[in-house]
Amino acid sequence: MTGWELAYDGFDPTQEGVRETLCTLGNGYFATRGSATEATDDGVHYPGTYVAGCYDRLPTEIEGRVLEHEDLVNAPNWLPLTWRVAGEDWIELAKMEILSYRRALDLRRGILTREMRIRDARGRTTHVTDRRLVHMGEPHLAALEVVLTAEDWSGPVEVRSALDGRVENRGVARYRRLASQHLVPVDARSLDEDTMLLEVRTVQSGIGIAVAARTHVYEDGQRRTCQVRKSSRAGYVAHELAFVLEAKRPVTIEKVASLYTSRDWAISTPGLAASETLAVTPAFDALVESHVLAWDQLWRSFDIGLETDGRDEASVVASAVILRLHVFHLLQTVSHNSVDLDTGVGARGLHGEAYRGHVFWDELFVFPLLNFRAPDITRALLLYRYRRLPSARRAASAAGYRGAMYPWQSGSDGREETDKIYFNPRSGRWIADCTHLQRHVGAAIAYNVWQYYQVTGDRKFLGDAGAELILEIARFFASLARHDPRFDRFEIRGVMGPDEFHSAYPDADQPGLDNNAYTNVMAAWVLWHAREVLELLPRDRRRELCERLALGPDELARWDAISRKLRLHFVDGGVLAQFEGYDRLVELDWDAYRKRYGNIQRLDLILEAEGDSPNRYKASKQADVLMLFYLFSAEELCALFERLGYPFDSSTIPRTIDYYLRRSSEGSTLSRIAHAWVLARADRTGSWELCKQALIGDVADIQGGTTREGIHLGAMVGSVDLLQRCYTGLELREDVLWINPRLPESMRRLELLVRYRGHTLGLAITRDTVEVSGERSDIPTMRIAIRDTVYELKAGERRVFPLPPPKYK
Ligand code: BGC
Repeated sequence: MTGWELAYDGFDPTQEGVRETLCTLGNGYFATRGSATEATDDGVHYPGTYVAGCYDRLPTEIEGRVLEHEDLVNAPNWLPLTWRVAGEDWIELAKMEILSYRRALDLRRGILTREMRIRDARGRTTHVTDRRLVHMGEPHLAALEVVLTAEDWSGPVEVRSALDGRVENRGVARYRRLASQHLVPVDARSLDEDTMLLEVRTVQSGIGIAVAARTHVYEDGQRRTCQVRKSSRAGYVAHELAFVLEAKRPVTIEKVASLYTSRDWAISTPGLAASETLAVTPAFDALVESHVLAWDQLWRSFDIGLETDGRDEASVVASAVILRLHVFHLLQTVSHNSVDLDTGVGARGLHGEAYRGHVFWDELFVFPLLNFRAPDITRALLLYRYRRLPSARRAASAAGYRGAMYPWQSGSDGREETDKIYFNPRSGRWIADCTHLQRHVGAAIAYNVWQYYQVTGDRKFLGDAGAELILEIARFFASLARHDPRFDRFEIRGVMGPDEFHSAYPDADQPGLDNNAYTNVMAAWVLWHAREVLELLPRDRRRELCERLALGPDELARWDAISRKLRLHFVDGGVLAQFEGYDRLVELDWDAYRKRYGNIQRLDLILEAEGDSPNRYKASKQADVLMLFYLFSAEELCALFERLGYPFDSSTIPRTIDYYLRRSSEGSTLSRIAHAWVLARADRTGSWELCKQALIGDVADIQGGTTREGIHLGAMVGSVDLLQRCYTGLELREDVLWINPRLPESMRRLELLVRYRGHTLGLAITRDTVEVSGERSDIPTMRIAIRDTVYELKAGERRVFPLPPPKYK
């Protein structure tokens, strides 16, 4: 990796899946994996194209039960472009000598290139370069260009350009038992000598998808007319173009594609929209220009500058590129192009099929970056949740609760999409999946609304949607909590916290745990802030909302009481217990397991295969209690605990951190983000080490094979946010933007841009100074605090503040 480039030299079939994922190109509307244009799903390659929000549901019979699964659909493949010497076999890299092979992703421009020299069995050497883009400015467009140069031969060649709708969802090996054929062919035909159109429909959701493509051949910059052989069959259309390739005279083949679905606005049919758009789309080079401009504009807001002081230089330099890669994949998954799409934040991006494209709580790790850079994207993504409020209300009521119970996994319509069972490849067994009991997902949504408001001050959004979300989620938590008169405390029983290693008490016949600290503290926070949110609304809106929700003073008083009396448990003299009864679990012999299995991130699967269960141990997959220290500052936690009537002694923070860090397998990529964050104040070196591990999560595929199934978007973006908010100490409290930096030791300077309540601020942080440069704006002043001192900053002002040493170590 160098400044703006992720490059792979050589072709390694074992790494191809990961590289295809990391070389995915997308624009927030759709994305296509970085598979070679000649590749098919053959065990090495997996071409996949995913359109945001395009789901389909199919039944499968497993172990005597019919189960339904909803998948983000693998849409028709627009890439296919291959060639052959006329009359011979289509090229197959596996049968050729690869003299050189390099694939490079240009992050600044959003262009993927491949350059290779190959020699066939008859000794003919060909130089092939291809470039491709998925247009960031024109969300329905993608294009590729292949340049063929015969180095030491001449002869007739044929190029086959196709659209393939016969694809299925077969990208994740452990889902292969499940129904995977989501596309029904509708139409496949040539529109003229250059263009073809493919239309398909999803089986159950009935979404129409159309792709139109145009193929042109150029030599010396001139269009070359070729003989075209057209063919089509159900779900597939191809054009074969024949021409003579002269030695050392490059020929360029260009394919431009346009993709629409019936979910799009302002169209008649997807087929008409795709073909009409294509008819007015310029050639490849012009598309490159407008596409690069769109990326330039994004990078102006999103880039982060890092400078090292020479120590640990290689890793800081590498980190800077990986940070760009992570921002790049974020914006390819959600961007301004997603604003009108009614789509959520898929945990694995638009990059693969793991978790079937579902939306979890991972947006908690994604929104902070967007809030400070492009809050209109957060707003649109929060509306995905708002539109599914009726579904969450239905779910709450069906389970005997009130308010809105959001699903742990969400897809098209907001019903619970979590699997009933999952497969453990180690034991070959199907196991009950109880992760839907993670009721804390609603608290994450409420927290996200609040954070969005804190950064933007967008009261209109609160009035239109945000307040209702928070109130209905608060109502749900209030109905989940039960009063225990013995302690005069409220309890939440039968749930799961974020740590997925604990789903039940050892030997219990029912899933669920009692008084999970994370859930209870988050519930207390939601119930507390619900009232504050109401007070922020204009009086008439507040009244309307209360009337509509039948929310009166008695209920608000009950919420207030619950928010002060949720029950927590403690272990080891003051360490917050993950849940009630955690102290009775046994310690795991970590060393023995590490020795026996090496990688024990998925200890749950290991233990199950041994006939044991993680439920018996003080061992967690990921941050649970420590999530609280990730989401709240010590000041905020102190206030929460005070309200709850529990002592909060800040000296227990390091002990709590140490306690759980030692008992975590880091089995979720999200975990390192939270852990790096909580360590940042007390152990900067340890925090930076964890941050570096989080940074290489997908690049080095540290989960041993999961990256080929899609990126880990939450961890990717969370790692950027560590630089944005954690090491800068950026925090919003009391209408002040606090900056309290603790740069990792090897970092000399950090530069970034943030948007805050109508202001755009450039921040440059060094060891001794904080430089703030404001852009002119309509809002005259803002309050900013450096460490503990609050200043007034005028719009457009540039100031350099000396940075006093931090108060605590
Ligand atoms: C983690 C969850 C996460 C999900 C999707 C799971 O492995 O335990 O916390 O939401 O992956 O990223």
